[in-house]
Amino acid sequence: MFKKILNPFFLTFLIICTIAILPYLTPKKPLKVPSDNKLREEAISHNLLPVPKEREKLLKLLSTPSNPLTKERVALGKELFFDPRLSLDKSVTCASCHILSEGGDDNLPTAIGYLGRANPQHLNSPTVLNAALQKYQFWDGRARSVEEQAGGPIQSSFEMNMKPKALVNRLKNDPAIVLMFDKAFGKNSLNFTNIRKAIGAYERTLLTRGPFDRFLDGNNSAISKAAKRGLTLFMERGCKGCHTGISIGGQFIKRFPLRSYLEDYLGINFHPKLSIKRDSIPFDNIGGFRGKT
Ligand code: HEC
Ligand code: HEC
Repeated sequence: MFKKILNPFFLTFLIICTIAILPYLTPKKPLKVPSDNKLREEAISHNLLPVPKEREKLLKLLSTPSNPLTKERVALGKELFFDPRLSLDKSVTCASCHILSEGGDDNLPTAIGYLGRANPQHLNSPTVLNAALQKYQFWDGRARSVEEQAGGPIQSSFEMNMKPKALVNRLKNDPAIVLMFDKAFGKNSLNFTNIRKAIGAYERTLLTRGPFDRFLDGNNSAISKAAKRGLTLFMERGCKGCHTGISIGGQFIKRFPLRSYLEDYLGINFHPKLSIKRDSIPFDNIGGFRGKT
């Protein structure tokens, strides 16, 4: 019997089995959730910041040197966001695809724009809520700000299909909107750049505040016990490494998958396609996303 146990094959088998079940035998360390104040302090020190609740603070935070936010600019941008004159046949507005009451998108698998044309790359409409906080706009990050982005859909043949000059001339026939431009940007300021800036100014105010923001502001009962455990894990497990700031992320674009299968499951660090990208955006738009309808 004893000899049988010493059999090298059996021994090897035994050792392998022991190693395999070891992780299940060692006791799991229970998660220690710190006190509410400590948890909040830690979150803030890791740069998980609340969306400001005061309008003045918010406008200041989201102003950029090239587009200082004013009440007048935001009001004009709001007007333009819902204005069908931005599309050639006056049938499409920004809000057609970015329905604010639906979470800032349209719930469609593929965006449908001018004359019912579908997005040729089968892309759907991302939300405009909190989009201004992102460092890059569009699925491939090709625009750097909401102001830059706003020029795209107006001109795109499958979205609004409007030429900048034609749009400016169309709006110049409306004294009410000309007056709004005067107030927002100064006399004789109705041009395509300022149309983009006004829309961008409005989008910068499209931020959502939720229970997590209220917790960060000091309200201990704003989030549940389970959420506090989640927040503790979020910080412990390294999510905060990429998901930080007032938007909890959105500051860079990563290749998919974030980590390779080999690395995740076998612990092997092997990248057969090593290439040094000179682009600041490490993302190629190859083959139009290959989306399916
Ligand atoms: C026909 C539907 C449609 C219309 C109209 C439209 N959009 Fe979009 N929007 C999209 C789609 C689709 C994308 C993604 C396109 C891409 O990545 O190439 C997008 C992207 C965006 C983004 C980037 C968000 C992000 O997370 O990257 C913003 C901001 C935005 N649109 C604002 C606007 C504004 C402002 C207008 C009006 C001037 C407008 N959109 C009109 C469908 C639409
Ligand atoms: C290496 C950086 C990195 C780490 C670490 C990371 N993420 Fe992400 N995460 C990303 C990126 C990049 C995206 C965006 C992918 C996209 O939508 O294009 C993302 C997207 C997400 C989304 C989807 C958000 C949305 O708006 O669709 C969730 C939820 C998320 N991550 C949760 C987590 C959690 C939870 C952890 C920790 C367990 C974590 N992430 C760790 C980089 C990271």
